[in-house]
Amino acid sequence: MGSVGSAAVGHGKVILLGEHAVVYGVPAIAVAIPRGCHASAEPAATDTLSVEPWGVRVQVDDVPKPVLGHADGHADGHDDRDMLRRAFALLCERYPAPRAGLHVRAVMEIPGGAGLGGSAALSVAIVRALDAALGITHDDDAIIAASHAWECVFHGNPSGVDSAMATRGGLALYRKSQPLQPLRLGRPLVFVVGYSGDHGSTKAMVESVARQHARDPQKTQQIFDAIASLVNNAKNELEQGDFVRLGQLFDLNQKLLNTLMLSTTKLEVMCQLARDAGALGAKLTGGGGGGSMIALAHDAPHAEPITAALRHAGYEAFMVQVPR
Ligand code: MEV
Repeated sequence: MGSVGSAAVGHGKVILLGEHAVVYGVPAIAVAIPRGCHASAEPAATDTLSVEPWGVRVQVDDVPKPVLGHADGHADGHDDRDMLRRAFALLCERYPAPRAGLHVRAVMEIPGGAGLGGSAALSVAIVRALDAALGITHDDDAIIAASHAWECVFHGNPSGVDSAMATRGGLALYRKSQPLQPLRLGRPLVFVVGYSGDHGSTKAMVESVARQHARDPQKTQQIFDAIASLVNNAKNELEQGDFVRLGQLFDLNQKLLNTLMLSTTKLEVMCQLARDAGALGAKLTGGGGGGSMIALAHDAPHAEPITAALRHAGYEAFMVQVPR
């Protein structure tokens, strides 16, 4: 996985605390990671999207038919490919006709289904590549709106956090339907991202929480309220630089996510490996059910044994440093 390097970029992100509850109005804290998606566009007969390294190519006027390839880069099937085509068409429709066709070539630096905001990053990079090719500038709010429409195709009921983060980057508190609130760090933030290698379906996980909420609204609301208080405390700890307390909040958030059946055995093992290697706290990040976890480190030297422990156990892992 390389790093974001060209002008038409969408940021990947991790959610530090508050995933899933954010769909129900609880704030979440998220931070962009230096990996995402970059894209460029060139003239073509018809609007076309290729995504590497997934080896997927769709044209807006394709007639849906079963082919290999997947919008998330995992299972095969024409449904996923057609979803990608429809989502891409939604972005293309935002540009005034008549106009020449464009071929958008996107390069993903994070796996799909990793809980790292890959799909939103892709949409933002596409809009920025189309803008650059057509000499149009959408402002951030317009890009977020376009990305949100795209995310609705894949995820059904997204809170909007991924689209906002993919567009704006940085470290921020997000509350549904509200602008990102940038946060200031008391000291540099260092964490390790570990990818389980298992594809997590955000849509399936969000639907699972919705079913639990419909069955027992009081219990799920209590969990959301508890997550809300963790997020509020975490905001203070980030601003004050108390990362020992922040790590404890990660662990508590993980317990609550586990109660909502969003964790997996592998994610639990990875979190424990990280804690044993000195992490101040660890939790899944994003949709869960697979995907990735994050482990808070005291500083960069302390992140090394955590990264090494995860890699030694066979997981892809990398360190992220967020300057003050
Ligand atoms: C996905 O990155 C975060 C979730 O909370 C879903 C969403 O907010 O749309 C799981």
